[in-house]
Amino acid sequence: MGLSNEWEQIYLQDYKSLPWFNLPFSKELQSLLNSLDKEKKLIVTGCGAGDTAHRLNKLGFNNIRGYDISKNAIGVARKNFPRLNFKVSKTEEIKDKNCNIFDQYVVHHISKSGLKRYINKLDKMGDNIICIFFYGKKEKRKSIIKKRGKVYHHNPKKIERLFRNHILTKQASYSVRPNVPDKEIKYTAIAQHYIKK
Ligand SMILES: C[S@@+](CC[C@H](N)C(=O)[O-])C[C@H]1O[C@@H](n2cnc3c(N)ncnc32)[C@H](O)[C@@H]1O
Repeated sequence: MGLSNEWEQIYLQDYKSLPWFNLPFSKELQSLLNSLDKEKKLIVTGCGAGDTAHRLNKLGFNNIRGYDISKNAIGVARKNFPRLNFKVSKTEEIKDKNCNIFDQYVVHHISKSGLKRYINKLDKMGDNIICIFFYGKKEKRKSIIKKRGKVYHHNPKKIERLFRNHILTKQASYSVRPNVPDKEIKYTAIAQHYIKK
C-alpha cells in the first residue's frame, strides 16, 4: 500500500477519534506563533481534517492555505471549514513561495529516506517556518500508534542541518497527550522556529 493510500485509509475512520484531532496548542507554541506576521500567507502543511488551520484562523491568521496528501482529509476539512482554503497536495509538491509555514506533527511520519526532500521543500518555500514533531529518547522507537501512521524519531539537530537557508531562532519542547482512549501515551514534542538567512 502506497503512503498516500495509507493516509486515505486512516481518514476513512471517524476523524474525531484520530489521536491528533483538536489537540490544543501549548503555551510554548503560542509564544512562537505570536512572533509571526498574521497578514502574511500561512501554509499549513499536512493539515489533516482542518482543525489546526481553523485554530490558527481563530488566533488571527487571516491568509491561510491548508494542504494534505489525503483527499479524504481535505474533503473533511472543506466540509467543516468552508470559509478556509484547502487543497490536496503532498508537501513535497507545493508550489507556493515566500510564505510562512506551519508544519505540525508531520515530520515524524516522514521516513528517513524521504526526510531530506521533505525539509528541502519547506526550506525553499518558507520565510518563517514553525516545524513541530515528536522526539523523545526514552520513548519506544517502534510504531506506537498502530494504524495511525508510523512514528519515526528524527534527531532535531539533523533536521536543523537539513534547513540550509534558515537559522533556528527558537526551540521549545513540551508534552503532548494524543487522544488515544484506552492508553496513557505521552509524547515529547519539539517545536522549532526557523527564519530565512
Ligand atoms: C498526525 S497528522 C497531523 C495533522 C495536523 N497537522 C495536526 O497537527 O493535527 C499527519 C498529517 O500529515 C499528512 N501527511 C503525511 N505525509 C504527508 C506529506 N508528505 N505531505 C502532506 N501531508 C502529509 C497526513 O495525511 C496527516 O493528515
